[in-house]
Amino acid sequence: MSTKLKLPKIIGHRGAKGYAPENTLVGIHTAADMGVEWVELDVKLTKDKVPIIFHDDTLDRTTNGSGLVAETLYSDIQALEAGSHFADSFAGVSIPTLEDALEVIIDRGLGLNLEIKPCAGREIETTEHALDILTSIWDEDDKILISSFQHVSLETAMEMAPNLPRGFLMETQWQENWQDFVSHLKASTVNVNGNEITREEVEQIIDETGLPILAYTINEPDRARHLQSWGVDAFFSDVPDIVKDGLFSVH
Ligand code: G3P
Ligand code: MG
Repeated sequence: MSTKLKLPKIIGHRGAKGYAPENTLVGIHTAADMGVEWVELDVKLTKDKVPIIFHDDTLDRTTNGSGLVAETLYSDIQALEAGSHFADSFAGVSIPTLEDALEVIIDRGLGLNLEIKPCAGREIETTEHALDILTSIWDEDDKILISSFQHVSLETAMEMAPNLPRGFLMETQWQENWQDFVSHLKASTVNVNGNEITREEVEQIIDETGLPILAYTINEPDRARHLQSWGVDAFFSDVPDIVKDGLFSVH
């Protein structure tokens, strides 16, 4: 486990998803403008293996394109429009590459939770290509967290860049031997569904791992305050300013 990780209380989810199109450069800027210290972004590969910042397996929900990301070339993805699904005022916004996003994050002095979000069957290569770029650009290990629901992606990250802290993302339904994976992957944090978790489960994670707990995706200040009182350390939020106001104290 990294001892140097400096986690904030609030992490802007997909940038600041409540205020700007998710996983875009304007979303990262929006988070920074709000005073958010870290953002969470999802990374996956185009057909020709360019790491892009994108959540879904398909292009349909957030762009004017359609079909599978894994079957679309970067040259075609680059031409898509990814802002107007959110609001007309964001028309013309494009899908950033990981490299584009890192440039803005570094420029704005933000920390980053990079979630490896591979299309099925691309768990290893998504991590390899993303970390090749990340490690060639990023030189701090106290403001970065690599997370994934895919254990093999985290395993690849551990092999490629052992010093980059890893966040173990838990599905809503925990798998039976989750503790073994947390231990094997030398995770620095446990990231949970904060809308479903119980107080007993939070206490179990604290008792059994002693690791910081990060809760996704919390948009209600009251829920954040409850989770905080149970021992949750940090919150992914689409509306970071609103959730921040709900916490007991934020440094
Ligand atoms: O990493 C926290 C959260 O982003 C996980 O869920 O689907 O929003 O990527 P999702
Ligand atoms: Mg995510």
